[in-house]
Amino acid sequence: MHGLPRSAPADAPLDPMEALLQGPFAPRHDESDFVDLPLVQGRVPEDLNGVYLRNGPNPRFAPLGRYHPFDGDGMVHAAQVQAGAVRLRNRWVRTDAWQHEQANGAACYRGIRETRQGLSERPLKDSANTDLIGHRGRALALWYLAGDAWELDPVSLETLGRHPAVAAQGGKISAHAKVDEQCEELLFFDYGIEAPYLHYGVVGRDGSLSHRVPIALPGPRLPHDMAITEHFTVLHDLPLLHDPGAFALGRHKLLFRADLPARFGVIPRYGSPAALRWFEFSPCFVYHVVNAWEEHDLRGHWVTMVGCRYMPAKRADGSIDTLETARDIAALRMRARLWRWRMNLSTGQAEECCLDPEHNLEFPTVNHARVGRPTRYGYLADQCEQEVLQFPGLRKCDLASGTTLSSWREHPAASWYSEPCFAAANGARYEDDGYLIAFQWNAASQRQTLDIFDAHDLSSGPIAQLALPRHVPLGFHGCWMADSRLG
Ligand SMILES: [Fe+2]
Repeated sequence: MHGLPRSAPADAPLDPMEALLQGPFAPRHDESDFVDLPLVQGRVPEDLNGVYLRNGPNPRFAPLGRYHPFDGDGMVHAAQVQAGAVRLRNRWVRTDAWQHEQANGAACYRGIRETRQGLSERPLKDSANTDLIGHRGRALALWYLAGDAWELDPVSLETLGRHPAVAAQGGKISAHAKVDEQCEELLFFDYGIEAPYLHYGVVGRDGSLSHRVPIALPGPRLPHDMAITEHFTVLHDLPLLHDPGAFALGRHKLLFRADLPARFGVIPRYGSPAALRWFEFSPCFVYHVVNAWEEHDLRGHWVTMVGCRYMPAKRADGSIDTLETARDIAALRMRARLWRWRMNLSTGQAEECCLDPEHNLEFPTVNHARVGRPTRYGYLADQCEQEVLQFPGLRKCDLASGTTLSSWREHPAASWYSEPCFAAANGARYEDDGYLIAFQWNAASQRQTLDIFDAHDLSSGPIAQLALPRHVPLGFHGCWMADSRLG
């Protein structure tokens, strides 16, 4: 593996983010197809058919300034599983920025750590590198700061263009949106630095934009994810802001405010802004939601959301260290616990509790067909405290109790898994009737594999492990699209 050459002088101190261009993060320079990957062990189940897609930063050219992983051009790796055989393909997302730089033969955009001042001729890069979701037979590549939603063919990985309905409204989509597979609706939000700071929208199963409303926030915020239930959408107003001093100078710097609550806004799926109700919780940031659903009990009608609560850094006296918290979030150092927030639509009551105080867990997934419906099982990646974006193990959790039901680590110190995705078996009859899929880079053996687990029980290790001919750079999010959803 090789990294990208440094843009700074050779004797300049190493920027910590430059480490995220080296070793297991080193970008690929090729776009390749590998058919019939060889098995290392086990057998690929015949009732698993579809494609596992994983997005992540893969700079085409050495960055001009200070690098952040959200800047690297989005590259999708696709492992297509068909009748017991697996093929691997990788392609860049051909965004406007990628095409301009390709034509230019060098980087010409600025990243999120660069100042706007003095660089007005250099636009901010929308890299489309953060998430992938499957909707109407296509994959959508999305970006951290709310960018264009780029449509891809999920098998060929050809970039088909911007999502037409969203683009026609001048809209963007944030890093994370949700697809309700029960009705094939896409629920999304976008946010920005101009009032009202957030918009919420719905794309129908026919591909048209069927709803888009402004949501007024107290100021510019940096929400990363959202949640849906059968009838409602949950929007996030978290105390993570742009630092106003840095912002005035044109810099993107995070500020965490421990004096502000975390607020979740519950709005009917097709609701007007006036129908939104805010619920307040202890201050925190949330990168990722596991799932949400509705419940009814003697106390009323609840929206329950389970997620990974970013645990604010604490000083010796127990108070929140806001500076350290903002630094950790910006550096993608995950310090999260599985958490449950409940919002009572009948009474306005809000409750929260930690479900698992022991494990640092992030990059969660559930059975996609049950997003927005009650789910018992969540699949999460263990987070390494020392290495950014190292996921040394995989874990299946009971979302009611927080209990670990099963887990797996091949090499506790040397395994780097990708975000695991649940893939339902053909004709699945119950929630965890299927498989868990992830790439694994094993730094000890210098071996890249695709690992397929039986989702019932991860503790026996992969039931199939396939050798990849070269490494897959560490990245962000992925999804599974079954054959029946490939269009
Ligand atoms: Fe994310």
